[in-house]
Amino acid sequence: MFQHVIVRRPCRAMVDGITSDPGLGKPNYELALRQHDAYIAALERCGVDVTVLPADERYPDSCFVEDPAVIAGPCAIITNPGAPSRNGEKDEILGAVRKFFPEERIEHIRAPGTLEGGDVMMVGTHFYVGRSARTNAEGIRQFRAILAKYGLTGSEVPLEKVLHLKTGVNYLENNNLLVSGEFVDKPDFAAYNRIVIPEEEAYAANCIWVNGTVIVPAGYPAVERAVREAGYPVLLVDTSEFRKLDGGLSCLSLRF
Ligand code: GLY
Repeated sequence: MFQHVIVRRPCRAMVDGITSDPGLGKPNYELALRQHDAYIAALERCGVDVTVLPADERYPDSCFVEDPAVIAGPCAIITNPGAPSRNGEKDEILGAVRKFFPEERIEHIRAPGTLEGGDVMMVGTHFYVGRSARTNAEGIRQFRAILAKYGLTGSEVPLEKVLHLKTGVNYLENNNLLVSGEFVDKPDFAAYNRIVIPEEEAYAANCIWVNGTVIVPAGYPAVERAVREAGYPVLLVDTSEFRKLDGGLSCLSLRF
């Protein structure tokens, strides 16, 4: 069960955030704020306390707090984001993490290692780590060494197309895994009950399980139906403005 969530308010500079699909247009900032409000409300309905960090105009993508830190049970790992414009976010998340973890349980990924939290999927005490354009082999090596110190395990999943691991695969607990695209047939996930997302709704593979409820992006009826059929209560949150920056529900929070 999760007790705590950390989010950061979107900044006005988000309109200049990184995107792989400029054709979707620039985010509407006011709408993004309203969607962020609804996201926080949905999390609170799931019984967590939400720490809301202020907007940081220096970093257009800084609302995606999942990338500069990973909370791995007994420790917090400050990452070294591989996107140059996002790298400084690691220093800004540290203060929030310190409110929950003593210094001796805060670890760091160091250069030349790079790693972003969107590439990390937790399944109990095991962590799958996507090797991506943002997360390199040295980052994964350091990450696994840190996990081992705490009795946790990690394994590498090479990515072919998507930005982050959790762009295309997300664990819903109870052995259930939402999978899309390149993850549908990956042997790494063969032992799970895989709920396959149709290609036209691939964006919505990025759902989050929070204390028994699954938060699903609004506007993806096949995914909503599949998650309900798997037995979960569903909360819908519109993330259209974050999608324009390749961001989704998991990217917007640290849950622990
Ligand atoms: N726009 C989010 C990212 O590229 O990290």
